[in-house]
Amino acid sequence: MGEEQRRAPLFEALQTYAGRVRAPLHVPGHKMGRGADPEWRAFLGERALSIDQTEAPGLDDLHAPEGVIAEAQRLAAAAFGAWRSYFLVGGTTAGLHALILAACTPGETIVVPRHAHRSVLGALILAGLRPRWVRVAFDPELGVATGADRASLKAALPGAAAAVLVHPTYYGITSAIAAEIELIHRSGLPVLVDEAHGAHFAFHPSLPPSAVSLGADGVVQSLHKTGGSLTQSSLCHLPRGSRLDPLRVQEMLRLVQTTSPSYLLMASLDAARRMLALEGRSAWDRTLALAGEARRRVEAIPGLRVYPTDDATKLLIDVRGRSVSGFRAAEWLWEEAGVAVEAAGLTYLLAVLTPGDTPETVATLVAALERLPSDGGVPALPPEPPWPEVVMTPREAYLGRKQAVPLAESVGRIAAEMVAPYPPGIPVVAPGERLTRDVVDYLSFAARAGWHLQGPADPLLRTIQVVVE
Ligand SMILES: Cc1ncc(COP(=O)(O)O)c(C=O)c1O
Repeated sequence: MGEEQRRAPLFEALQTYAGRVRAPLHVPGHKMGRGADPEWRAFLGERALSIDQTEAPGLDDLHAPEGVIAEAQRLAAAAFGAWRSYFLVGGTTAGLHALILAACTPGETIVVPRHAHRSVLGALILAGLRPRWVRVAFDPELGVATGADRASLKAALPGAAAAVLVHPTYYGITSAIAAEIELIHRSGLPVLVDEAHGAHFAFHPSLPPSAVSLGADGVVQSLHKTGGSLTQSSLCHLPRGSRLDPLRVQEMLRLVQTTSPSYLLMASLDAARRMLALEGRSAWDRTLALAGEARRRVEAIPGLRVYPTDDATKLLIDVRGRSVSGFRAAEWLWEEAGVAVEAAGLTYLLAVLTPGDTPETVATLVAALERLPSDGGVPALPPEPPWPEVVMTPREAYLGRKQAVPLAESVGRIAAEMVAPYPPGIPVVAPGERLTRDVVDYLSFAARAGWHLQGPADPLLRTIQVVVE
């Protein structure tokens, strides 16, 4: 990477401003911490609060950048190999919303894999789009989604306005994304990639390639997940040759992002980009070595197996051989050993390693896993959910008049909310879809089994929200 990557223009400008200002007669009202709760100030430190600023002199404007933010975004584009990069203060959620709003107009059809994150469904609601869902392949043993089904993707493309891909999955599993992008481009559609879990990919050759280098048209990455920036800060990239109009993307970013973007978040993106550009290769070298060591040691524990993820820094641990569910194992690890994993499912635990990990964190995980007790077995994996019948757009169903009805009495109605039970971790129903007998039976089973249900207003799903017809 070039010399210019040693700079962090926004972070530097904030420090200069904090050192120079004598009378900050503007918001934020805590005035560099002086007006903040003393315990909070002491905890966070005055220096952190001194750079929690707004569009003060020399600090540029995220929504019309011409100075240090423009420069910081240019450096990010260079580091990630993109044509244009934009800072996000509303997470990857905001970036996906903006890209989808930019690529489509109301009423159009968009191709979306069923395992897409709920932020994509949110974009469909905002944009008034009709989803054409793509079937998802599952690992038959662990029951986790491994990617979009190619034949289903191909069949969904004709007549659509854009397609979304998820790369990698939450579990670090990638599909043949280069071939998928090519397939979608052959139909003339732009490809929007949710790379929330791949912000580190560009910085090490043993990690999967980033969609930025594979010809996608828009890519969003949660730098806060694996890239070292603060929670909520993400990046939206337009790769070279993107079919999206940057002016329209910026317009949509202005629509979905706050007018008071946090300079702490933006400076953390600037600093994280610098660190990745300068030290990413060596830092991820160490992380991959540590993950390899962790994998070997966990595999050596009787009853445990580590799934061969494409991103080796994701440890997807199959706990079935230990006669314990992943949910129970995660609870035990936390309560008995202070080990907090990223996620758990019926059959697995997911541990995420980054350059912030050390041999000690791995040793603590391994020592706890060695003591993991069995808990009388693991319930069988659920069958694949029934295929949805879309009868109106998510926007019409979600934003229209709705009512809660007992789940048992909802057969034949149109859902006005999403329900995604874990497992299988994908929506069984989304707003605008018919609640068929099969769907209601599936949801009743999931609710009775006590699975975590993402989406419904009633967390126990005694009732479900449906469209008033
Ligand atoms: C696959 C995927 N996409 C998008 C998001 C949304 O990202 P953010 O939390 O940065 O808004 C997440 C968050 O967990 C995710 O897992």
